[in-house]
Amino acid sequence: MSIESIGAVDQLRRHLSGPRQRGEVIGLVPTMGALHEGHGSLVDRARAECDFVVVSIFVNPTQFGPDEDLELYPRSLADDFIFCEARKVDAIFAPSEEAMYPEPLHTLVEPGIEASRLCGASRPGHFKGVATIVLKFLNTVGPDRAYFGEKDFQQLRVVSQMVKDFDLPVEIVACPTHRENDGLAVASRNGYLSSEEREVAGILYRALRVARERIGDGEGDSEAALDAARTVIGLEPLARIDYIEVVDPVHLQPVEKVINPVRVVGAVWIGETRLIDNIFCDSPKKVLRRRKS
Ligand code: PAF
Repeated sequence: MSIESIGAVDQLRRHLSGPRQRGEVIGLVPTMGALHEGHGSLVDRARAECDFVVVSIFVNPTQFGPDEDLELYPRSLADDFIFCEARKVDAIFAPSEEAMYPEPLHTLVEPGIEASRLCGASRPGHFKGVATIVLKFLNTVGPDRAYFGEKDFQQLRVVSQMVKDFDLPVEIVACPTHRENDGLAVASRNGYLSSEEREVAGILYRALRVARERIGDGEGDSEAALDAARTVIGLEPLARIDYIEVVDPVHLQPVEKVINPVRVVGAVWIGETRLIDNIFCDSPKKVLRRRKS
């Protein structure tokens, strides 16, 4: 049977009433389309854990700033359908802008401190747009589980906090970042890179790993670990740091002395393309204990 594509909110709700009445576990993978293997890993996980899998495809204008790449953002609906069909998705929700925003919204979600720094500082209003559209999708689909990639770690934290704060009846499932051979996190915007830029784009992940090694070697001082990472990026003339920080993995606030597990998070410009990534670091004590045993 060919996959069902749905464009309207009431149509989707009707379509999901059958699986819901049968008590099926519904999984949602929210996307902006241009589907790649990173999305594929989210869909595969949803397919393995849920009875009915919905992929939403919507390039959400409200999460793009006025000078950002909304017009340029890759759109490939026909290929996305083939991608979803091959992965046995049950329904695609691909609404028009009109369907999601028949008129400008009067009510918006204002995320808290998780959104204020890092990408929130470089992209004002971005997480307000993300949280608001995700809330609309969660209300439209009513999934039991929704799948988000750890690559967008700040987005994952903003959404998880919203779900907690608003008592939303959904489990947010965090999925590991899918990477190319050189460590570059798979992302739709990687397609903007020229071949020369692509060659060096793995630098961010290499730098994050250097910071993690320092912390694992017992370096408790975040600045020292970050300096080592900055040195790696500084050696690459095509790369420019937007931010690189050691933060607590829940509220994403800066950590000066690493005692507990942290995330090292970074954003770099490679030419005109901004790439983000992050890495989990266990507390130095735990790493040392593991290495000794
Ligand atoms: O990660 C994305 O693709 C988008 O931010 C999301 C979660 C689909 C909201 O538009």
